[in-house]
Amino acid sequence: MTEFYKQADLLNGNHSVLADDIAISDFLQDESESEVVDEIFKGLSAEPKHISSRFFYDAAGSRLFEEITALPEYYPTRTEKSILHRVSHDIIAHNQYTDIVELGSGDCSKISILLDAFEDQEMGKIRYFPVDVSEDAVMQSADELVHKYPGLKVHGILADFMKHLQILPGEGNSLICFFGSTLGNLDNDQAIDFIRHVKGLMKKGDALLLGLDMVKDTRVLEKAYNDNQGITAKFNKNILQVVNQIAGTNFDPANFQHVAFFNPEQSRIEMHLKAMKEQVLTSPNFPKALVVKKGEMIHTENSRKFTNKDIRELANASGLSIQGNYNDQKEYFSLLQLICNE
Ligand code: AVJ
Repeated sequence: MTEFYKQADLLNGNHSVLADDIAISDFLQDESESEVVDEIFKGLSAEPKHISSRFFYDAAGSRLFEEITALPEYYPTRTEKSILHRVSHDIIAHNQYTDIVELGSGDCSKISILLDAFEDQEMGKIRYFPVDVSEDAVMQSADELVHKYPGLKVHGILADFMKHLQILPGEGNSLICFFGSTLGNLDNDQAIDFIRHVKGLMKKGDALLLGLDMVKDTRVLEKAYNDNQGITAKFNKNILQVVNQIAGTNFDPANFQHVAFFNPEQSRIEMHLKAMKEQVLTSPNFPKALVVKKGEMIHTENSRKFTNKDIRELANASGLSIQGNYNDQKEYFSLLQLICNE
């Protein structure tokens, strides 16, 4: 128990032990509101206008994303899970992982598939560190998992993993999971920086398990972001409500249309919100009003799609070596296991 807690003590966060098998460390620094508003204003003043995709995920946005993952058109989540089912034993074979970290853990459905690969009697040696900005998500997974896997210890980390990566555990061998192709939200340079940063926190024998969405038929890609029920459109427009909430702006989502397409030069799905009419964007917190012209697009997300060549280059640039590259039959999705050799 004390062992379990001591490690977190070394780090400067706000720590609490909630049960024999659950602890929480809070690293969510209150980013000053004015900084966030400033960032939003800058993006909306830029040419072309943009809003960071990190603003998708308020409570409503997270629910909409959950709905997206169940859509028939949105293949990534179920494909990644099917790969994980098939190869979870291979991933943990010949390794002695004691710390399993999940960046952007959300619900615990993916990690459960991995934990199922361990023997019951091994559970007592394993600690799971879900890292997420949502306290609700972390608490709920912790609760579910300690009941489902007796002996497992869960140490929730409330943090924005894009910013607070120093929170990774240090003892035992770690398997760091970054599922869902969330790496694809970053451009190539940012993605390499991110992986190098993670590598800097790894020791010999640690591994990074990366879920990556692959390039495929454009129609399949574009359908996944233009579903028939319009859930992705709702998800995209919800970002305007989030911005209204945070920045005090007067966006009316009804004035915008959801646009998502594959950009082959950049090998990414882009999501935008297209203004259906000219409007004046105001906020008491903005230094001035902004005009959104009819037809103007606000860029809200990039979702990169990878090739096997991209994957090799990513691995090369990261200084990690490829231990496994697992695909589904159609090669829609890849689970890449990168190992730290030094
Ligand atoms: C969570 C960023 C991986 O890019 O596919 C789903 C988000 N956006 N539908 C993705 C998303 C629109 C998703 N990621």
